[in-house]
Amino acid sequence: ELGPYSHFMQKEIHEQPKALADTIEQVLEQGFSPALFGAEAASLLGKVEGVQILACGTSYYAASVARYWIEQIARLPCQVEIASEYRYRDAVALPNQLVVTISQSGETLDTMEALKHAQQLGHDLTLSICNVRESAIPRASRLVFYTRAGAEIGVASTKAFTTQLAALFTLAATLAKLRGHLSAEVEANYLDDLRKLPGSVQHALNLEPQVKAWAELFSTRQHALFLGRGVHYPIALEGALKLKEITYIHAEAYPAGELKHGPLALVDEQMPVVVIAPNDSLLEKVHSNMQEVRARGGELFVFADLDSHFGESDGLHVIRTPRHVGVLSPVVHTIPVQLLAYHTALARGTDVDKPRNLAKAVTVE
Ligand code: M6R
Repeated sequence: ELGPYSHFMQKEIHEQPKALADTIEQVLEQGFSPALFGAEAASLLGKVEGVQILACGTSYYAASVARYWIEQIARLPCQVEIASEYRYRDAVALPNQLVVTISQSGETLDTMEALKHAQQLGHDLTLSICNVRESAIPRASRLVFYTRAGAEIGVASTKAFTTQLAALFTLAATLAKLRGHLSAEVEANYLDDLRKLPGSVQHALNLEPQVKAWAELFSTRQHALFLGRGVHYPIALEGALKLKEITYIHAEAYPAGELKHGPLALVDEQMPVVVIAPNDSLLEKVHSNMQEVRARGGELFVFADLDSHFGESDGLHVIRTPRHVGVLSPVVHTIPVQLLAYHTALARGTDVDKPRNLAKAVTVE
């Protein structure tokens, strides 16, 4: 069942090009069509004036990426919230808000209860993004998009996350199209970006030996800091979650601009700092945040794009992911942080697929 792989997590990381290709197949065939989300979608999605996304754990980080896309591409206000918080909050239901739940398993109790809570508050436009067919959450939702990642066995979510991102990008572009915000030219470009995504992810997977070389050092540390900005900040959060989940190293993620508001005090020679630094409009800002870390002796481990300029120097290690892939860059930048957590766990000898204290589907509160 594992084939050439040592763990399900490693297998699932490497299955991502296929999982993504399978998930976007129908999108490439149909374009950004509401029919992708179910029979009722053409009438329901056309009414949407805002989006509220609810999820837990890694699925919540997928939601956090989607917020940038939904605002930027569809020009709709978008809120994201951890399901276990939302379900106990007396939120005000705005009219025509689409409530999106994201769940790999479709059985996460808090996400299910958050959906029911939203329905009790009066929300009736509900959409589930889910990997397991006919599970509880999609059954309770009016619209559904199934990711086609295949069974995910490892407790640490990997291919479910990147396929959720592909689904959410599709949702953002579909809403944009319905609202008249997507020209034929931009739609063609986005479809092209999606078509190239499995290949870019494969390029990132080919970096495994380089990432593995960093893992030895990480395995000897007690703490790690992850930095990102903008749409890549949730990827820093995801990298920190993967690391703590399977290596038990304490890891935190910050939007890099927050460094000097507190976490910079933690930085010394013992603190490896991982930076997600794609070649986008925020790169200059990230670069100056990196200098703040270096000035305090922090060792930097940077995931940069092939086409960005800065090189390695003392205390600054760089791995280059493929040439900047534009709007889908967060998907590609996820791969190296997954690999870093995986190889650090191997170096520490922890149980990669079944980390202590955790379950694959959290069906209790
Ligand atoms: O099945 P779900 O997507 O609803 O699960 C949500 C979280 O429990 C899950 O993503 C968890 O955080 C993972 N173990 C992270 O790797």
